[in-house]
Amino acid sequence: MSETKKAPARPVVLGNWKMNGLRADGLKLAGELAERAARLTGTLGVFPPATLLAGVASRLAGTGIVVGGQDAHFEEGGAFTGSISPAMLKDAGAGAVILGHSERRHGLGEDDALVQKKAAASLKAGLLVTLCIGETEAEYDAGRTIEVLERQVAGSLPARATAANLVVAYEPVWAIGTGRTPSTDKIGTVHARLRAMLEERLEDGADMALLYGGSVKPGNAAEIMALPNVDGVLIGGACLEAESFWRIYTAGGGA
Ligand code: PGA
Repeated sequence: MSETKKAPARPVVLGNWKMNGLRADGLKLAGELAERAARLTGTLGVFPPATLLAGVASRLAGTGIVVGGQDAHFEEGGAFTGSISPAMLKDAGAGAVILGHSERRHGLGEDDALVQKKAAASLKAGLLVTLCIGETEAEYDAGRTIEVLERQVAGSLPARATAANLVVAYEPVWAIGTGRTPSTDKIGTVHARLRAMLEERLEDGADMALLYGGSVKPGNAAEIMALPNVDGVLIGGACLEAESFWRIYTAGGGA
């Protein structure tokens, strides 16, 4: 159990490399981040493809930068071709995992129940879970954002979640990789509702890190992270270049 552990230090800035990076690029990017990370005041994390986990983790050892996987199976091992268990992620040097990303929920048909099982297994293995939730454009247009998020929180938040072992990332599906974001007013309103949902469900819901994700860039990161109840950001495209990822981190007060 993790009673004595604390919620990750703010800002929490996480970079999801997605299916990008061969060995040389990934190690170069990790090296460029390592050079900048002499004194981290918040939480900085990278989520390389599984093939690069071990190399990136060893390149970043001792820097304080968190390294994580982009998905995990809910079983510890067995006949699950192509899958990776939480224990395997840990064994490769990961301390964290992203679960329920839209590209898996909507791209690969993962539902809340599956995401919840993966999250429970990952917590059991001692990984810091980043649980992604978010509405589609049609749901947004229909004014159903809060209802969708309520369903996703109820269905995919695992029972053992605490502020020390889990981070929630709100990522509107229509904002991911599109260059479009909700207005800061909208992000603020959604995050306030999410905070209330977490406080209702969890003893320490007030401390749980709540991230925004979807087209965050160096140019909009500061105003997004200045919002109440936005404790950090989850980055896709802009994390593939060390300088832009680092500028986002410092825009949120980290260095
Ligand atoms: P993006 O991706 O920053 O490229 O929009 C965000 C994400 O998928 O987490």
